[in-house]
Amino acid sequence: MQYRRLGRTGLPISALSLGAWVTFGRSVGRSEARELVALAHDHGVSFYDNAESYGQGEGERILGDVLADLRLPRDAFCVSSKVFFGACREPRPTQRGLSRKHVVEACHQALRRLRVEHLDFYLCHRPDPDVPVEEAVLAMDLLVRQGKVLYWGTSEWPAEAIARAAGFAADNGLVAPSLEQPQYNLFARTRVEREYAPLCRDLGLGLTTWSPLASGLLSGKYREADAGGRLRDPEFAWLDNHLEGATGRARADRVRHLAAMAADLRCTPAQLAIAWCLGNPDVSTVILGASAPAQLQENLAALAVLDALMPAERDGLADSMAD
Ligand SMILES: NC(=O)c1ccc[n+]([C@@H]2O[C@H](COP(=O)([O-])OP(=O)(O)OC[C@H]3O[C@@H](n4cnc5c(N)ncnc54)[C@H](OP(=O)(O)O)[C@@H]3O)[C@@H](O)[C@H]2O)c1
Repeated sequence: MQYRRLGRTGLPISALSLGAWVTFGRSVGRSEARELVALAHDHGVSFYDNAESYGQGEGERILGDVLADLRLPRDAFCVSSKVFFGACREPRPTQRGLSRKHVVEACHQALRRLRVEHLDFYLCHRPDPDVPVEEAVLAMDLLVRQGKVLYWGTSEWPAEAIARAAGFAADNGLVAPSLEQPQYNLFARTRVEREYAPLCRDLGLGLTTWSPLASGLLSGKYREADAGGRLRDPEFAWLDNHLEGATGRARADRVRHLAAMAADLRCTPAQLAIAWCLGNPDVSTVILGASAPAQLQENLAALAVLDALMPAERDGLADSMAD
């Protein structure tokens, strides 16, 4: 495993980490989750990503159960939770969003589900148009000072809202955000490369990036008509621009190109797509998703591909995959 610093914090974090979205508590039951976490830990993974909304809390419950069962030392791993969407199917107004009430109560609930005394990372899962940024900063500052959260951050916030939060914190002696969690893959580059790059440089933000395979599309498996997976699950029909219509067809062509380049490099398309994400030095960790141990095993080997991927090849791949 390679370890990187989380932005300008002093925290080393594994360059590859494991997330629970769609999988833990849904396509992955408790015993498979245990296998995935054990495999990740054995490969040096030190960060497990979660959120109140994953499986309506079940994602956190399963991860907490597995971490306790495996008896992993608390100082050998980091866990996150994210607050905004709520932990039940139809949350009431006080059970979602970024009000100080919900941010604090959701933190307490996540601590109980994950069975830990503090969250290493606690993120505002989306911006909340109904809550002043200042209120969210004050709630996070409170939790950090109480020792319940070590580092706080945002996910998919506009850069100017992050800058406002950081400025308010600096002006008032409050704890500033340390990380952002954006989507980043060969099909989704703009936000990280244009919008967040100045924040990484100026504020020292770390990036914990998600969906390195664009929900599995970049693994190339959807070239097989009978391949199952998230993108063929009716519950995720809202992701269908990945497969359907003109965008889907154009993307399928690009995945074919990715697969050809991967074959030249003697790796799989998934490994090349993940190595490509790791090639951006602003990325602190690439959060992997896996519904089976074999997928995780394959994806963890992307680190070896990173060593073989020259900067010019990396840029060329990005250009050839651009929309
Ligand atoms: N902050 C946010 O808003 C946000 C949003 C999304 C995700 N996240 C975090 O980021 C993590 C990763 O995101 P993601 O799950 O979307 O990542 P991803 O890598 O884009 O997709 C992972 C999925 O792709 C398929 N897959 C993975 N490896 C494969 C392989 N080698 N061959 C074939 N198929 C493979 C599996 O799905 P199937 O087996 O079902 O096909 C797997 O669950 C999440 O778990 C979550 O923690 C955060």
